[in-house]
Amino acid sequence: MRTKIVAGNWKMNCDLAEMEDLLGEIKNQLDSVSNDVHLMVAPSFTNLYPAFQSLRETNIHVAAQNMHQEQNGAFTGEVSVEMLKGVGVKNVILGHSERRSIFHETNALLAEKVNTALAKKMNIIFCVGEELKSRKEAKHIEVVKEQLEKGLFHIKAENFKNVVIAYEPVWAIGTGETATPEQAQEMHAEIRKMIADQYNSAIADEVSILYGGSVKPANAKEIFSKKDVDGGLIGGASLKADDFLAIANSF
Ligand code: PGA
Repeated sequence: MRTKIVAGNWKMNCDLAEMEDLLGEIKNQLDSVSNDVHLMVAPSFTNLYPAFQSLRETNIHVAAQNMHQEQNGAFTGEVSVEMLKGVGVKNVILGHSERRSIFHETNALLAEKVNTALAKKMNIIFCVGEELKSRKEAKHIEVVKEQLEKGLFHIKAENFKNVVIAYEPVWAIGTGETATPEQAQEMHAEIRKMIADQYNSAIADEVSILYGGSVKPANAKEIFSKKDVDGGLIGGASLKADDFLAIANSF
């Protein structure tokens, strides 16, 4: 059985007080969420420790939105894996499309981040997804394959237990435009096949693959009903407790 996951990517939103309000609202309604759904939230760096403290008695996991590939050193403004671990964080999102496009993170750089994270036993949510142009040219599968081959498929089979993949078509992120459930299913099945070809079908069957891109309470159920979709990476809608929990209740 694959793990069902609903993860909130809060991006550069919520100061400390706002986050505490949001966490309070989420915790108040936690009983409504089935125990087999793993909830995760990814606050900004400054909010990671207070989030960890606030959630330590719950089963909500905390993730960082990024980390640096080096262990330490003269990298002004960056945060290392040990710093994350030191404040209780055991999960990190790598390769989000905003990191790739705005901050120019390449597949090669992401491969380094993956290595650093796995060497320190962090769990990774590795994001892939094509831009609109590639979708229009019917190159979406090719693009995602390249992202996986160059950024992730160098890892050892045994490390896959620490990996979750998130498919997020760039044209659907924050745009209100969602991939159809069929488009999501098609890509998720392709990703699973790529993993089976590169590793084996046992690993491909076990890895959770999340869909991300304008997931809302109104569309989550249909997307999550697809056989290879194991949950969602949620941006905008995860900033409202009611919506986030409604999505978590959409399996
Ligand atoms: P969105 O963002 O749900 O606001 O489209 C998803 C993401 O960027 O992870």
